Amino acid sequence: MIEFKKIVKRFGDRTVLNGLSAVIREGEIVFILGTSGTGKSVLLKNLVGLLTPDEGEIWIDGEEVSKFSEEQYLPIRKKCGMVFQHPALFDSLTIFENVAFGLRRQYQFPEEVIKEKVLKALRLVHLRDVEDKLPAQVSYGMQKRVSLARTIALDPKILLFDEPTTGLDPVTTTAVNQLILDLSRSLKTTSIVVSHDMNCALSVADRIIVLDKGQIVAMGTPAELKKSEVPLVQDFLAEVLA
Ligand SMILES: Nc1ncnc2c1ncn2[C@@H]1O[C@H](COP(=O)(O)OP(=O)(O)OP(=O)(O)O)[C@@H](O)[C@H]1O
Ligand SMILES: [Mg+2]
Repeated sequence: MIEFKKIVKRFGDRTVLNGLSAVIREGEIVFILGTSGTGKSVLLKNLVGLLTPDEGEIWIDGEEVSKFSEEQYLPIRKKCGMVFQHPALFDSLTIFENVAFGLRRQYQFPEEVIKEKVLKALRLVHLRDVEDKLPAQVSYGMQKRVSLARTIALDPKILLFDEPTTGLDPVTTTAVNQLILDLSRSLKTTSIVVSHDMNCALSVADRIIVLDKGQIVAMGTPAELKKSEVPLVQDFLAEVLA
């Protein structure tokens, strides 16, 4: 579904992604782990066309997209639903209107179809009776779920999450991870989750990719990663056991 071929991304004389290659299969949930500043967010931004790699190829659903123009990228962006680290909801719009926003902008659906899609998306993230509230009237964890609903309302084939659980308490973190797992399975999406959290990765991922200094230092199933001798992977695992 997604393939990175020898991706290089530089900012000035700094090389952030250094020849990275990986294949992500349809329906897989892949976690990308790495310490702060290793290029995880830059990798996601290259995928959705917010940044362009200096070298290499990016294949999405059978198309090489890295040299696509802004206009050519529009259908790709519709395929890729991105959930950003911070909910970034519109404060003055109700939760219903926040979730409806992208639907209204991208499609000309009649009002009853919009209503059906919004309520279905909210149900999928286990939010009920909140659609008339403003974002400030619900908790931060609920706002994160609203931002997830806003993305899945658009029926993406690929779901991308940048640090979905950062800033959440342990109980909400578990709930959001379970939600990512349930949604990916029920909507049959291919999902990439950027995270610091090995614990979440071990419980949710089909495969885990560990990045360090713009390169992949480990890649495999949770069971394979647990046996890894790579020092950085062992550091991440030590946190889980601690
Ligand atoms: N637009 C940009 N211009 C210049 N440098 C950038 C730009 N975007 C990112 N960088 C640099 O690229 C490096 C990787 O950034 P990135 O945001 O991908 O890190 P990250 O792995 O997501 O870290 P974190 O876990 O803290 O979110 C950083 O050193 C950052 O300063
Ligand atoms: Mg980041």
